[in-house]
Amino acid sequence: MTAIETEPTTGVTTHQVALSFEDGVTRFITVREDQTVADASYRQRINIPLDCRDGACGTCKALCESGEYDGGTYIEDALSDAEAADGYALPCSMKPRSDLALQIATTSEVAKTGAASYTGTVVGLDRLSPTTVELAIDIPNRGELAFLPGQYVNIAVPDTEVTRSYSFANAPREERLVFLVKLTEGGAMSTWLTERAAVGDEVTFTGPNGSFFLREARRPVLMLAGGTGLAPVLSMLRQLEVDGCDRGGRLVYGVSTDDDLVKLAEVGELVSRLPGFTWDHCVSDPGSTAANKGYVTSLVGDEHLHDGDVAIYLCGPPPMVEAVRTHVSGAGIEPTGFYYEKFALAVPAPAEASPASAETSPASGEASRVRVELETHPEARAVAGQVMLPALDLGSSGSAAVARDDGDVVRRIAGQLVAPASAPVGRGHFVQTPRASERVETNTVEDLIEFPEARSIGSQVTFARDDSVGLDTPPPSGSGGSTSEGAGSTSGGAGSTSGGAGSIGGDTTADGYTIGEEHPDISASDAIFEARAALEVGALDLTIGRLDSQQLAGYRLLAESTLPYVDGDCFLDAHGYTESNAAFHDYLFTLTGNGHLLAAYQALGVKGRMEEVLRNATWCHPRCTQDHLDIVEAFERGDRVAARDLIKAHSERSKETMRRAMAESAAATRPRLITPGRFAGQVVVVTGAAQGIGAQVARRVGAEGGAVVLADRSPLAGEVAAELTDQGAKAKAVECDLEHYEGASALVEQALAAYGRIDVLINNVGGAINFKPFTEFTPAQIDAEITRSLMTTLYACRAALPGMVEQRHGVIVNVSSAATRGIHRIPYSAAKGGINAITASLALEYADAGIRVTATAPGGTEAPPRRISRGTPQPRTDTEKAWFQAHIDQTLETSLMHRYGTLDEQAAAICFLASEEASYITGTVLPVAGGDLG
Ligand code: FES
Repeated sequence: MTAIETEPTTGVTTHQVALSFEDGVTRFITVREDQTVADASYRQRINIPLDCRDGACGTCKALCESGEYDGGTYIEDALSDAEAADGYALPCSMKPRSDLALQIATTSEVAKTGAASYTGTVVGLDRLSPTTVELAIDIPNRGELAFLPGQYVNIAVPDTEVTRSYSFANAPREERLVFLVKLTEGGAMSTWLTERAAVGDEVTFTGPNGSFFLREARRPVLMLAGGTGLAPVLSMLRQLEVDGCDRGGRLVYGVSTDDDLVKLAEVGELVSRLPGFTWDHCVSDPGSTAANKGYVTSLVGDEHLHDGDVAIYLCGPPPMVEAVRTHVSGAGIEPTGFYYEKFALAVPAPAEASPASAETSPASGEASRVRVELETHPEARAVAGQVMLPALDLGSSGSAAVARDDGDVVRRIAGQLVAPASAPVGRGHFVQTPRASERVETNTVEDLIEFPEARSIGSQVTFARDDSVGLDTPPPSGSGGSTSEGAGSTSGGAGSTSGGAGSIGGDTTADGYTIGEEHPDISASDAIFEARAALEVGALDLTIGRLDSQQLAGYRLLAESTLPYVDGDCFLDAHGYTESNAAFHDYLFTLTGNGHLLAAYQALGVKGRMEEVLRNATWCHPRCTQDHLDIVEAFERGDRVAARDLIKAHSERSKETMRRAMAESAAATRPRLITPGRFAGQVVVVTGAAQGIGAQVARRVGAEGGAVVLADRSPLAGEVAAELTDQGAKAKAVECDLEHYEGASALVEQALAAYGRIDVLINNVGGAINFKPFTEFTPAQIDAEITRSLMTTLYACRAALPGMVEQRHGVIVNVSSAATRGIHRIPYSAAKGGINAITASLALEYADAGIRVTATAPGGTEAPPRRISRGTPQPRTDTEKAWFQAHIDQTLETSLMHRYGTLDEQAAAICFLASEEASYITGTVLPVAGGDLG
């Protein structure tokens, strides 16, 4: 039964270990032979009991039901000889020698701090206005409840099965818990509050939940509160006061009607105690007596946006969030942070939605923010691989909605309305039977269907992009879609955070929770690490002083597990470091017991970004691993200030490590040979420019003074373009699919729009997909090869030539291949033969128009690992491997130099043919294959 596997990165044998918990749950982990079971377990996010981690206490003792292992070193007190003889072992010391089955003496539910159930007493019921009640609760064990300003709890409505979500309005350290409730006729909470509730009643709630909370920072804040969205903002303001914060900022509070206005005097006093803070309020009802009638956006001026150096916190209904988003982006501002919590109450939709209908409809605003627990369903939608929403027959956008109660709240995922919540709401139940008359405003089901441009969470594609234009969303490119390229490329941008670079979360967690944050250019490492530190400081506040010895032991184990991968300031194994570092940082969020916080952290894509950037890194800040140990030590001491400072310092050191790696990588890709000024004043379009030969050609043209348009189906071309502009070149990336004429046409359109003309077109897209004898190809595979390696060049030439003809000059360099005489990729060979024909014939046809057409025919070329797959299936069987190897052998044999070429060697020939130096060469295919003439 033992399956012996070898870890690809280390070559060390690994085994499968089954961990059976007392509650019947079994989890499987992979453990290397040189690794303890506890170490592997924690790294794989399974926190088994642990204390000394050293074979001294016996806390981790487990019964090994099967398998062989090295028990390691331990003392008799921890494990007696008799126990060892009976099959007991210590996971903190044992290393597997085969697959193992272990019984773990605890349940699979890891002990966590954070979300828990509390019972308290109603101590205040104040009708603040005709529509709003303030509910105050005392709990006897207040010291056990830690929360962050902005978080919420789920309150069980007494005498019902219903829970409703409310944000704390008090500061985290204030004794009394205060919530604001918008009353809605017939609502469960509203009915209780207005008809049955009394001071002295018992109330139960669970929490805290949510990742919408005030981050520590120095920059000013802009807070926008819609309706009872004032509650979390009040909590934040109170925390700012407690902190003696002088960062300054602005609050705008908006409601629908005068009846909804509450706490004006209190807000005014609070704000007056905050240096540099201003505030105002508005009512959208035209009949209001308020000084400001309208929407919150009317009270946000440029001076409140600080040229983008501002953190925006926004709590209100979805239209308000979108209105603010539009307002800010309309001002040309990308705020450093955009944190929001959306809630929505199903209400009769106005005949026509107004721009910021957040506070528009008299019945609008919100009641409670009910977060529906969803039952899994075979046809459900998935988030990060977790099935979460049942398929629903939803009404289309703009359908009338009917207000029923304060729980009649709609769900929003990725900013999309998806389903009305129906009471009762209980864990594990989601009863959804919308009748036509009760439909709420929502998008169509089609909008929710996963599609290629879907938003992603933690690098996993999950939901269709919101129609709204995010602050960070670039203008539509008008490009044709996805890809094609020469030496290849892919996407994904490990660590990609979402559909719009820069948006984190905003989508959902597994329970449909809708909170998000956005930062400009979050794909830039600095922003990612700053966001991580801000979240970690929040997690710190929720956990410090609350972790037991076992949790701290696990934390220390994970800190220590990063040590072997760094020596001084050198990475010994950057991949191993990235993995162990990710497990360390994950752990703190896991300990909060707050799934939303963990999801918010994971949505940052830190690990993916590190994997990508550190792939070939050699330098690591020498304090990074020690920081991990020091952070744990600060937790062990309960020293919040030290832990906080270390988290921030660690973030800086992480940024430095990433910057050095990116600089090293840029230096490694810099062209070896450069002819200064050769392309000065010329506009050069390079297709397939995200990686490989195309990227190298783009780099060289950029270094030689040309304005480069980098075309690729992958957004990674944008990274190469950014690299070029950093070095002072003119560069523009265009994402387009050249396998369709529309893509080629869009490319030319955008190049002309950017630079006014195209002087040189370098057609580099192409590349064999399959490697096998011709008789093994299916018709579909043949078509795919031809489309990829022939049609892309035909289309691009067709799209670019009219402009060149009109301007009476132009150069086209096609990238063919020595594979026109090669084995095991016949369709590709045929396509490249076609490229040679295009080259010769176009040269003939357009010579009189002043256009030269040439080609190179590269042989085998060394290139870094592809970041974008061509879709080549991994050879699995020995036969498939032999087919693949045969084409490599043939390539080497037919090259007189018996070696592969380099990217620089290929770029040199292409750039020569593209330049004025080759002004008397046309219709020629130049082999660049070490003597292989193809
Ligand atoms: S003996 Fe394993 S944790 Fe102490």
